[in-house]
Amino acid sequence: MDLRLNAAVAATEDEQAAVASVLGPAGSGWEGGLRTAADGHVAFGGHSARGRRHLLLPVLHAVQERVGWISPGALDHICARLTVPPADAYGVASFYALFRTSPAHANIVHVCDDLACQVNGAERLCEEMERRFGPEGGGGAGAAGGEYGGANGAAGGTTAAGTVAAGQAGGGSNGSGLTWQRSPCLGQCDRGSAAMIQQAGPAPARVVLAPADLDQIRAATSRSVAFMQAGQDAAAAAPLIPQAVGDRSALRLLRRVNQVDPGSLDSYRAAGGYEMLRRAVSAGPMGVIRELKDAKLLGRGGAAFPTAVKWEAVTTNPARPHYVVCNADESEPGTFKDRVLMEQDPYALVEALTIMGFACGAGQGYIYIRGEYPLAESRLQRAVDQARSRGLLGADVMSSGFAFDIEVRRGAGAYIAGEETALVNSIEGKRAEPRNKPPFPAQSGLFGKPTAINNVETLLCVLEILRIGGSAFAQIGTKDSTGTRLFCLSGCVERPGLYEYEFGVSLREVIQAAGGVRDGRPLRAVLLGGAAGTFVGPDALDVPLTFEGVRAIGATLGSGVVLVLDDAVDVPALLQRIARFFRDESCGQCVPCRVGTVRQEELLGRLARRVPFGSARQELDLLGDIASVARDASICGLGQTAVSAAISAVSLGLIGGPGPGAGPGANGKEA
Ligand SMILES: Cc1cc2nc3c(=O)[nH]c(=O)nc-3n(C[C@H](O)[C@H](O)[C@H](O)COP(=O)(O)O)c2cc1C
Ligand code: SF4
Ligand code: FES
Repeated sequence: MDLRLNAAVAATEDEQAAVASVLGPAGSGWEGGLRTAADGHVAFGGHSARGRRHLLLPVLHAVQERVGWISPGALDHICARLTVPPADAYGVASFYALFRTSPAHANIVHVCDDLACQVNGAERLCEEMERRFGPEGGGGAGAAGGEYGGANGAAGGTTAAGTVAAGQAGGGSNGSGLTWQRSPCLGQCDRGSAAMIQQAGPAPARVVLAPADLDQIRAATSRSVAFMQAGQDAAAAAPLIPQAVGDRSALRLLRRVNQVDPGSLDSYRAAGGYEMLRRAVSAGPMGVIRELKDAKLLGRGGAAFPTAVKWEAVTTNPARPHYVVCNADESEPGTFKDRVLMEQDPYALVEALTIMGFACGAGQGYIYIRGEYPLAESRLQRAVDQARSRGLLGADVMSSGFAFDIEVRRGAGAYIAGEETALVNSIEGKRAEPRNKPPFPAQSGLFGKPTAINNVETLLCVLEILRIGGSAFAQIGTKDSTGTRLFCLSGCVERPGLYEYEFGVSLREVIQAAGGVRDGRPLRAVLLGGAAGTFVGPDALDVPLTFEGVRAIGATLGSGVVLVLDDAVDVPALLQRIARFFRDESCGQCVPCRVGTVRQEELLGRLARRVPFGSARQELDLLGDIASVARDASICGLGQTAVSAAISAVSLGLIGGPGPGAGPGANGKEA
């Protein structure tokens, strides 16, 4: 592959316009504009262009949305505008799943075949997609024009236009006008088999269909964007929160759902919105942090780290400026809680992040939201814009003298971007590769400055703490797990959806609230905490769901996933999906994770096909070795937890046990 400036194919007008929609017009020949005589005598603008490097992802999104892929000409132009080396920019563009570096149709359909969808018939949908639209990944727009790495190593091959324009639907090899591909979890696990459509063109759109079927997909890709938007709004109109339509007394974080219009700041304020910011301003930064300490709030993003410790470390750090970031990347398979909060209560997140900025002494906040959440993103953007226009963000927030603003940044399809240091890299316009810790973000985070990063649910807890007081919050739940927790119920339950309970509720109670195991079948196991979590058996039903309670049985609450599996579920197939997920999502920086995730996948495949190397026992020993090396020698949580689910499945006898062994019969189907 030969990546260099001045690619054979220049950026088209559409591509240049897409880039300019983010960066504005080029100021000189030095940043990709027309060269003037003066440009030959003086160089300028390099420093400011490099200062905008963090806009690389927004620019790539703009080109992807307009044209449907990132062509060499477009990349070349972006590199000139931001003074980024082409190999560097290509490394970024090719890292993220929602960017394409080869020609594609205007419609790209991502079909979720992850855990909950697999339980709900995702394979059937994938087979139908294949029958109707051809093989996965096929149906590229069919032109060789401008593809990376021509036969002579140059970015060669041209079409008249230089790139394949989006909207040339029907011209591809499968004649369908769309490309489809399997996708990891789309955060719609409560609704059944899900799909997301990326539609490129002059009026680009993303729409999520859940549950998705072939007719909907065909209709959505062939009709107008307005149709797609309508479908999306309809899906969001009925959030699956059974408690919100019945007895609401348990609701704290979900208290405004179905009560407040998520598109209206007035409605939010009428329900007490922005009273907590007022309270925070009068308490002062250390007053807010004291409340969090009294509340004993632990982060809800997975690591359960004390929030007050993080905020205090940032606020007392003498380096300036400080940043605050909301981690809304939510990509753990089985998790959808943050999506529901953002879709249904976006102003609450904006208010909570403003309070965080105030307490941490930051002037700028970011909400990093995964690219698969178009509705949540648009509602948040609207909330931010409205808050700014009403003086709740900007140079003088609530006339308090505090200056603070928020930018909503879209991710581009990478689970690892949820790891906090990878997320920081992604906002900086780089590949989402985790950094070594220390230094922790509170010491050196975004742009090398002190940065506090929290999960969406954690931030909503902050509002509740300020509402009722830290000490009162600490009375809810248990001594070491205070407050309430959101549980994402999916899989084989009668009423999947989002449930809120005080810490200490039992797994049995949560599953019963969701109507119990579907069709009255026996419970086989529950996957707690998502793909990075652990399987527990029916004997764990009375374990209290607290950080310490699940830790005592070697499990984790993780991001609140409760994936219920009945006796008909093909557990070895689920484990192989988990293994494929980690293989795909490993960023590849460290060997134990990069190699271990591949070896795990191969091993589980051999067990499922009943062709072990040696005996099944030897394979399980090898799995144990892979798990310990990955746990001990990976630099981030992805590698450290990539084999946890498989190990817990072995210890429960879900795979590799005596009798039918690890094959399909092991799930009890044929028993
Ligand atoms: C592979 C990986 C993915 C992660 N994904 C997320 C995520 O999507 N959302 C999140 O809030 N935290 C995620 N985390 C945890 C973050 O690194 C970090 O701990 C969290 O954002 C801190 O917020 P909290 O203290 O409020 O929990 C992930 C961690 C790892 C290792
Ligand atoms: S553990 Fe895996 S995902 Fe994490 S940094 Fe290493 S290779 Fe990347
Ligand atoms: S949306 Fe398919 S598993 Fe979550």
